[in-house]
Amino acid sequence: MAIVRKSDSLGETSVTPEAIFWKRREFIKSFTGALSVSALAPGIVLSDNTVAQKSSKMIGEELRGELSSEFVVTHHNNFYEFSTDKQEPSRKARNFKPDSNWKINISGEVDKPGDYTLERILSRVNEEERIYRLRCVEAWSMVVPWTGFELNQLISLVKPTSKAKFVEFKTLHDPEVFPGQKRGAFGSYTLPWPYSEGLTIQEANHPLTILATGVYGKPLPGQNGAPLRLVVPWKYGFKSIKSIVSIRFTQEQPVSTWNERLPNEYGFYANVNPKVDHPRWSQATERRITDESFFGVKRIPTKPFNGYAGEVAHLYKGLDLRKFF
Ligand code: MTE
Repeated sequence: MAIVRKSDSLGETSVTPEAIFWKRREFIKSFTGALSVSALAPGIVLSDNTVAQKSSKMIGEELRGELSSEFVVTHHNNFYEFSTDKQEPSRKARNFKPDSNWKINISGEVDKPGDYTLERILSRVNEEERIYRLRCVEAWSMVVPWTGFELNQLISLVKPTSKAKFVEFKTLHDPEVFPGQKRGAFGSYTLPWPYSEGLTIQEANHPLTILATGVYGKPLPGQNGAPLRLVVPWKYGFKSIKSIVSIRFTQEQPVSTWNERLPNEYGFYANVNPKVDHPRWSQATERRITDESFFGVKRIPTKPFNGYAGEVAHLYKGLDLRKFF
């Protein structure tokens, strides 16, 4: 794992500078022919409920006029490994600069398990920019331009067996990097580290589910989950786990951090649903954060599945969404 800390004797020179990092990725892509133009080339648009087709239209283009500012996206964060405060992760993550040597362990019900470097994964997938709504369970929201690739591309590379019914993700567990993981960091309140999340295999394969490597056309900053984080736009933000080091294919539903900690408040599915309130607050509306005023702000109605019902509602046919919240 290549993480640079203040105290590292390796110093700043061991970090791949941003420009070189992106150049290298462009090089890998042009070499493998995986991406024809650039990471921000026109993407893929959903033409019906399930099928993605090549098109010149980018997914989320219609949201461009609603984008939250880059400053807001990178300075109002939930990343408990750094802090429970929203503004602190951007300060505390300054020295967290993982590079493309970052490894992701793939395990469980899969034909090709192993440790994959991010660089290797990126040489085999198509990255694109997508603009998605992000709705936190705390009832604030943003509109974010991610760079990333469909998780289903990685899934087809590692070939899950027919027994794989769920996918479990874990964040790096290293209290030296993440002070919030130190014992007693939040007093008596604690989370079971490492942060874990899970999806059904159908959710993981859905074309809207991406692994993001960048935001606003730049590599992900630490506070947004560098170097690789999940983005599942129709679910509450806590499902979109950051700084992933492990992806495991399982037969059983995996344990997810918030569901384990407070099962009556945070479900495994966590689909955005204005009709199912959190036990302590309403989910009918959300505070849309667009600029530096952070809290000065528009309250807007929350949409079922965060506005992606047309694409994903069929995944939950016959499921009681009040029970499986
Ligand atoms: N992943 C980890 N590892 N730790 C966290 O505390 N917070 C989640 C999610 N992923 C979190 C995490 C929550 S509650 C939200 S709303 C989103 O990250 C916020 O993502 P952002 O900071 O990029 O907006």
